[in-house]
Amino acid sequence: MNGLFAKKPLNTILAEAQETGEHTLRRALGPVSLISLGIGSIIGTGIFVLTGAASAHHAGPAILLSFILAAVGCAFAGLCYAEFASMIPVAGSAYTYSYATLGEFIAWIIGWDLVLEYALGSATVASGWSGYVLSFLQDFGILFPPKLAGSPGTAFVLYQGHWERLTAQLQRAMVLAHVDPAKLPHQYSSFNLVGFLGILLVTALLVVGIKESVNFTTAVVVVKISVLLIFIGLGMNYILGHRAEAVANWTPFLPTNTGHYGDFGWSGIATAAGVIFFAYIGFDQVSTAAQESKNPTRDMPIGILGSLAICTIIYLLVAGVLTGLVKYSSLDAPAPIAMAIEITGVSWGSRLVKLGAICGLSSAMVVTLFGQSRIFFSMSRDGLLPKWASAVHPRFRTPYISTILVGVCVAFVAALAPLTVISELVSIGTLLAFVIVCGGVWVLRRRGTEVPRAFVTPWVPFTPMMGIAVSLLMMISLGWECWARLIIWLGIGMIIYFFYGRKHSKVRILNAALPTAR
Ligand code: ALA
Repeated sequence: MNGLFAKKPLNTILAEAQETGEHTLRRALGPVSLISLGIGSIIGTGIFVLTGAASAHHAGPAILLSFILAAVGCAFAGLCYAEFASMIPVAGSAYTYSYATLGEFIAWIIGWDLVLEYALGSATVASGWSGYVLSFLQDFGILFPPKLAGSPGTAFVLYQGHWERLTAQLQRAMVLAHVDPAKLPHQYSSFNLVGFLGILLVTALLVVGIKESVNFTTAVVVVKISVLLIFIGLGMNYILGHRAEAVANWTPFLPTNTGHYGDFGWSGIATAAGVIFFAYIGFDQVSTAAQESKNPTRDMPIGILGSLAICTIIYLLVAGVLTGLVKYSSLDAPAPIAMAIEITGVSWGSRLVKLGAICGLSSAMVVTLFGQSRIFFSMSRDGLLPKWASAVHPRFRTPYISTILVGVCVAFVAALAPLTVISELVSIGTLLAFVIVCGGVWVLRRRGTEVPRAFVTPWVPFTPMMGIAVSLLMMISLGWECWARLIIWLGIGMIIYFFYGRKHSKVRILNAALPTAR
């Protein structure tokens, strides 16, 4: 046990931050900038893709309640995150904060767990992005061979002269046209080439130094929000003119449980909340800007809760319109928002949504993969991962080896794993990080830690307790396969830590050299 809870001294963290020039303590951000930072990181594959699948398989139109449940959990966890982040004035992640406050072992668990959030998060976004790219190309008659157009097992049928992905929506259309899909020629995908190439392209950009372009994501915020607002506007307009159709689609609001936990009914709402929780990931970006905020005590809660509240409202409107336009059972499609807008008959709507989603999701891939390379970089500099993981390219000044290695692995995950499987793993991994962060804030408060912080979580222990409870509820709802994958992942992490990290930890080596150090 000796040294498992060794802490990294704050002054070392600050010195490193200055050394790499990563951080300037300019207090420039006001509440509006913080809210837009949050919204920019939050909106992505979750709303553009997962809402459809979660509604089709778990909650039906009651997906609206799932969005509210997930938002409540995020709000509590976000307030804890903000305190944690504001203690350490570096642009970092929960890994860095926990190393300074909770010790090395917890930091390792969080760091390893965050790989799920960032690396697999970018694979999830790539997978969602590929659905929109393929659909957009198809509008121009460019068709990919089915074998290369989806993750293994995705079914395609030869219908009206070309290969179409066999979605629930297409099956319904065929039934109406008296066509039996079983009698049509089938092909199954074995590789999602577009998702694979997307990640490789982003990896190449990150190697040559895309850091500045991360700022470009701010511009993309406007595109993402506009596209969703246009969808809401056109959809509502259609629904107002076709009320009976919408009411029929919204009925039943909460489909009866099928007898399996998580398949509709109340348990389905919780499971769908765990799935679409992915759509809210990213608000932690706001908390990492605590020290750049002009008035963190006032603005951190405004930034976190404000971006969450705005996204929750947008998400509720999108989900309400989506399930009003299309029967929930048909929503399991690669580009559900674009599919739904076609119902309105506005010819340019679908292409606009696809273009907006492609732009918005491209920037999300860059941000998440960038975050991943930075975490491995920090862990390697602390000695917990091999040195090559923080090797910086002499010309591009980027951690190229870890970026390439992670990028290639992530590209294969995006090409080979089904979107729902990876997104659930991202959700459970991030929720675990939230549970640890909420627990950490509570522990630190009881311990009366001496570290000063710009923002203090209100209503402790109520806030962390609620953050933990709602996060655990969503984690439990994600099913045993997802838990098994998480446990295997953490097991691999433990092996690496005990056989490598523990022996090479710089903090431990330093502490061993200083007998008086704790
Ligand atoms: N919230 C982000 C998304 O939905 C991760 O893509």
